[in-house]
Amino acid sequence: MLPGPTNVPERVTRAMVTPSINHRSDDFVELYEECVDNTKKIFETEGDAVCLSASGTGATECSVVNLVKKDDKVIIPVNGEFSTRLAQQIEWAGGQAIRIQTEPGVNATFDQVKEAFDNNKDVKAFYCVWNETSTGTMINYLDRIKDLTSRNDSYYVLDGVSIVGGEELHMDKWGIDIAMTGAQKAFACPPGISPICINGRTRKYMEANPPNTMYFNLPRYFKYYDEAKHTPFTPALPVL
Ligand SMILES: Cc1ncc(COP(=O)(O)O)c(C=O)c1O
Repeated sequence: MLPGPTNVPERVTRAMVTPSINHRSDDFVELYEECVDNTKKIFETEGDAVCLSASGTGATECSVVNLVKKDDKVIIPVNGEFSTRLAQQIEWAGGQAIRIQTEPGVNATFDQVKEAFDNNKDVKAFYCVWNETSTGTMINYLDRIKDLTSRNDSYYVLDGVSIVGGEELHMDKWGIDIAMTGAQKAFACPPGISPICINGRTRKYMEANPPNTMYFNLPRYFKYYDEAKHTPFTPALPVL
């Protein structure tokens, strides 16, 4: 089985040929609210959900530009293409990526992650790719990471692009602050929408420290949703 894009059911394909609606209409509000609520159910979070009109890389970039500031230390296991890209995104945002580098197909152990935390007490965030799609390598200690991030309240961010919806995610229970996926993977939808969830304390941080970006500016998405259940920019309506 290929990791994706997955096959799209015919019922979903047919829904795309219905006439496009206005994204400032009541019909849109009903549609978007349902997408947001269902996303929160799948991620198991009481936080905010944003259905970004972007591919999975857009969602990972969005998490980075809203959280990582100049010289922030970020621990990240790297063992394949997508974790390599994510570490680069962190550095391009000005962060200092502390890579736990392992061979492709081999996961960093929990003890290696713990050691990285022990050696970097001032770490700002832990980023990880749950399922490194390029080698099919899945991390299975997501529930234990909060014991490390809770030491200094560092942030815990999960790239679940090729797996959320296929495996159960307990975002709030596992202490994950930001998580994202791509609708073209386990959701079996056409590409174009990438849901991202953000918990309350991370939202507060982002609002107090807004990013220098327009399209992926999450505080702007929170504001538009709170005020009118809208998105700030024109969404990819046929695939919502
Ligand atoms: C784990 C992971 N992260 C990020 C991406 C990038 O997603 P996209 O190609 O939708 O930008 C992928 C794509 O396969 C992925 O598997």
